[in-house]
Amino acid sequence: MKNTLKAEYIEIRRFLKVGKNQARNLKKILSGEPLVTPSLVSMTLDSDDVNLAKKLLADRGKWDDSSTVESFESKFAAWNSSKYALAFMAGRVALSACIYALGLRPGDEVIVPAYTCVVVPNAFKFASVKVVYSDIELDTYGLDINRIEARITSKTRAILLHHLYGLVCRDYQAIVDLAKHYNLKVIEDCAHSTGAEFRGQKVGNLGDVAFYSSEHSKIFTTIQGGIATTNNPELATKLEEYYQQVPYPKVGWLDKQLHNVILDFYKFKHPQRWWLGDIWDLRYGHKQLISTTLEETKGIRPKHYGQKMAAPLAAIGSNQLLKIDSYNDRRRKYAKRWDYWCEEHGYRKPTVIQDSIPVYLRYPILVEPEKKRNTTWAYKKLGVIPGVWFRTNIHPSQTVEGFPNADKAVECCINFPCLN
Ligand SMILES: Cc1ncc(COP(=O)(O)O)c(C=O)c1O
Repeated sequence: MKNTLKAEYIEIRRFLKVGKNQARNLKKILSGEPLVTPSLVSMTLDSDDVNLAKKLLADRGKWDDSSTVESFESKFAAWNSSKYALAFMAGRVALSACIYALGLRPGDEVIVPAYTCVVVPNAFKFASVKVVYSDIELDTYGLDINRIEARITSKTRAILLHHLYGLVCRDYQAIVDLAKHYNLKVIEDCAHSTGAEFRGQKVGNLGDVAFYSSEHSKIFTTIQGGIATTNNPELATKLEEYYQQVPYPKVGWLDKQLHNVILDFYKFKHPQRWWLGDIWDLRYGHKQLISTTLEETKGIRPKHYGQKMAAPLAAIGSNQLLKIDSYNDRRRKYAKRWDYWCEEHGYRKPTVIQDSIPVYLRYPILVEPEKKRNTTWAYKKLGVIPGVWFRTNIHPSQTVEGFPNADKAVECCINFPCLN
């Protein structure tokens, strides 16, 4: 009874939301405003992905086919020029696999940028590894090489560096060199930067292990997904050991993931998403998945945390891989618009380090704090709704103190979309 009432209440709320959206759209039509703005998620989904998702939903016979997953993994490894790749349900799980592979133990310490997504420190916390934060620089929002040494103790075993927003981090080579000097392992968080290059090779290949994300706000999408890579055969064996310990998601979850491919396409990518999104939301909105649960934002390990990527999503991933280079080219071209805008308006452009090719998941800019607090100026002047990654330095809801550059980024960094 209670559950039925709750379901009805949710249904009524969804109808009310659609009513509100369409009233807003009517106002836009009357005032001549554009009905859609560039989305920040799932912009690499096309009708071929939707058709594939529909086909997979209609024929569930091969949902447990591991060869589809292996094929995706080897295509990703070849494209990324990495020797080994294993696919998981999320980037955060791929990170957990990396932690396992490196043999990090309870009490060990790892240095992590003090400007990241909460699921990153969570993965260490779930393995009882102590996270020691270090401040970032504001050129590429990566770890600042000048702050790391002071954080190293006798218990430090690894450094996690990240390439945020699609940029190659400023101190990439220097961090890897410092880690070597102190005999520390390097984990590369490439969740935002799949395909970015440094000195002719894709990011993720300079450290010991790396992980990528194909969650729907990333460079390519399988709605949820992550890949762990390494070029070291011993670490590959350990990654594989972790992989063998975790299950595939249940059929009901796979059904939701595939429906989310369809939902996301109509909500975020289709040129007529202003009304089609609502129609599909009414139809399948009850299957909508969220990337980070409330419990995860509080640092609690979700029940179904460690899982592999299953065949249906791997099939979508293989299809996305066919398009990733052309989408990354488009991102770079679109970013030029923001370069000109920065030059014209006196804002600092994000730094593209020498010998690197960025992929501009988003175009980050430091603006006045009031312009981050209220971004309607960007909609009015530029016709875009900027992203606000990160809202807190351990996004989206946790804060660690004592990191001035991370604080500055939280206060001032907004990011513009780079695909339309
Ligand atoms: C910097 C960073 N690293 C890692 C992740 C984790 O990726 P996933 O959502 O696939 O677990 C995220 C997620 O948004 C992220 O922003």
